[in-house]
Amino acid sequence: MSVLSVRNLETFYGAIMALRGVSIDVEQGEIVTILGANGAGKTTLMKTIAGLMDPEKGQISFMDKSLVGLDPDQVVRGGVSLVPEGREVFPYLTVEENLRLGGFTRKGGLASDLELVFTYFPILKERRRQPAGFLSGGQQQMLAIGRGLMAEPKLLMLDEPSLGLSPLLTQEIFAIIARLNAEEGVTMLLVEQNAHIALETAHRGYVLEMGRIVMTGASADLAASEDIQEFYLGRTGESQRGQKRWKRRKTWR
Ligand SMILES: Nc1ncnc2c1ncn2[C@@H]1O[C@H](COP(=O)(O)OP(=O)(O)O)[C@@H](O)[C@H]1O
Ligand SMILES: [Mg+2]
Repeated sequence: MSVLSVRNLETFYGAIMALRGVSIDVEQGEIVTILGANGAGKTTLMKTIAGLMDPEKGQISFMDKSLVGLDPDQVVRGGVSLVPEGREVFPYLTVEENLRLGGFTRKGGLASDLELVFTYFPILKERRRQPAGFLSGGQQQMLAIGRGLMAEPKLLMLDEPSLGLSPLLTQEIFAIIARLNAEEGVTMLLVEQNAHIALETAHRGYVLEMGRIVMTGASADLAASEDIQEFYLGRTGESQRGQKRWKRRKTWR
């Protein structure tokens, strides 16, 4: 069953058309990744699903209900959490206060969710009384994911969780993302610049280029595709030829 189904979505910034008829599906229990260069429209897609931007056209249905026109808090109540690009934790609030805010849609009973978050991110428990601004970048990303989980989402959307993190921390965070999916059954939509780790972690993927989906498939098939290898995985020896072909392709549009 499709949990999330997006059809022919068009979103604008003034006269700039950022999404040009995007259609994607996410099934229960999946991790689905969106690959795409800077400016492809990945963040716009997530913001539109989250109710932070209104689409000009198209449908977004989540568990058979339309999300179009809902306010962001109603989307959260409906079961969709966004962990935004750049984390956006509240630096002057403590770690625990940030987490509790993530549960704002729920009536009490946050203790068991806090414990769940602390099971996956023990460092957050150690630092629960400290201002979030004192955390390292990796810890702030953990906090942002933890805050997203506090709403007990049926779909967790992650926008560039590895942004600005070392390769080691990126590995650590993605291992936890994979565990949350495998052990807690959290369905996820994952935007990630690091195509290697995105395709290792996700079951399926879509490639977004200039506001359009140009390719989709199982992660293993995408990773085996020559185009993906050249343009997103930067395979050695191929990369220069890839760059040239990439430039040619851009000028066709
Ligand atoms: N606030 C904005 N105002 C105008 N254009 C924007 C704004 N944010 C993004 N865009 C444009 O929309 C397109 C998609 O951006 P975005 O969704 O942020 O891409 P991505 O997340 O894939 O890097 C880009 O061409 C970008 O320049
Ligand atoms: Mg982005």
